[in-house]
Amino acid sequence: ENVKGKLMHEIQKPIETFDDKVTVVGIGAVGMACAFSILSQGISNNLVLIDMFENKLEGEMMDLQHGSLFLKDPKITASTDYAVSAGSRVCVVTAGVRQKDNESRTDLLQRNADLMKNIIPHLVEYSPNAVLLIVSNPCDVLSYVAWKISGFPMTRIIGSGTNLDTSRFRYMIANRLNIAPASVHAWIIGEHGDTSVAVWSALNVAGVRLRDINPKIGTREDPDRWEDIHKEVVLSAYNVIKKKGYTNWAIGLSVTSMVHSILKNMNSVHAVSTLIKGLHGVKEEVYLSLPCTLGQRGVLGVIQQVLTPTEREALQKSARIMAELIKGVHI
Ligand code: 2OP
Repeated sequence: ENVKGKLMHEIQKPIETFDDKVTVVGIGAVGMACAFSILSQGISNNLVLIDMFENKLEGEMMDLQHGSLFLKDPKITASTDYAVSAGSRVCVVTAGVRQKDNESRTDLLQRNADLMKNIIPHLVEYSPNAVLLIVSNPCDVLSYVAWKISGFPMTRIIGSGTNLDTSRFRYMIANRLNIAPASVHAWIIGEHGDTSVAVWSALNVAGVRLRDINPKIGTREDPDRWEDIHKEVVLSAYNVIKKKGYTNWAIGLSVTSMVHSILKNMNSVHAVSTLIKGLHGVKEEVYLSLPCTLGQRGVLGVIQQVLTPTEREALQKSARIMAELIKGVHI
């Protein structure tokens, strides 16, 4: 410490601030994609990794730390002990088994629900004011499970939901129109999975609704077959998994956009999984995605889209399926 003392005359001790502390639980491909994009976009400068496998955990932590020069000198810590996560503003839960070839997200339910029973109480204990983002699949049912286990208000348990499906949808439409995804306003709501709902009636560019130009858009009678894009969205994860074994980059970016809105209290609208009972005629107590404003305290509000009867029925059907799955899961 001689050199340090001679180099710099210390006037005051540095303070530790934790107001952008983010914990990522699970350091698989998804957890690390979340961690990497949160750090590389400078969304948080205080990141914690938690997992059960000590060696891999340390390796991932060191590897990220070695990039500090190219980041904003973040504080990166990792441990198998949840104590390091104390005082997190946002906890991102990515732990769990993932789909194998041709497995659906709901096939993973009980295995990952059991994991939630281990993880959530620790997060609640150490970060009682945090917003929990549930990314593990099946995301909607697990968000419900996490909500039940946590005792948190529903506003602070959020599923990453169809934020990703919406991004896929906008990307694919954007390609077809040769307009940037950010300028294509379109939404996928409902289940992050096989029964997701494309809100064709709301699809617009600069306020021009495509349905006004093509009244059959999104239906089976549409000669331009826009509906195929939604099918491709639903198949996206299956197609990527077939080729590379898992998906991670897009979900990492999608989660980062949510964490950003929460930490910066932005009130921006994301399609995320929330308790939707009472909305769009849904009677069941289930989590599904609708466009929500996100801020420091989690979900602030739900945008009440004007859905067509077809879209409404599809959402209600999704809700019934979720309710059935919830009934079958042991919490
Ligand atoms: C995805 O949609 C598998 O849920 C994951 O990429």
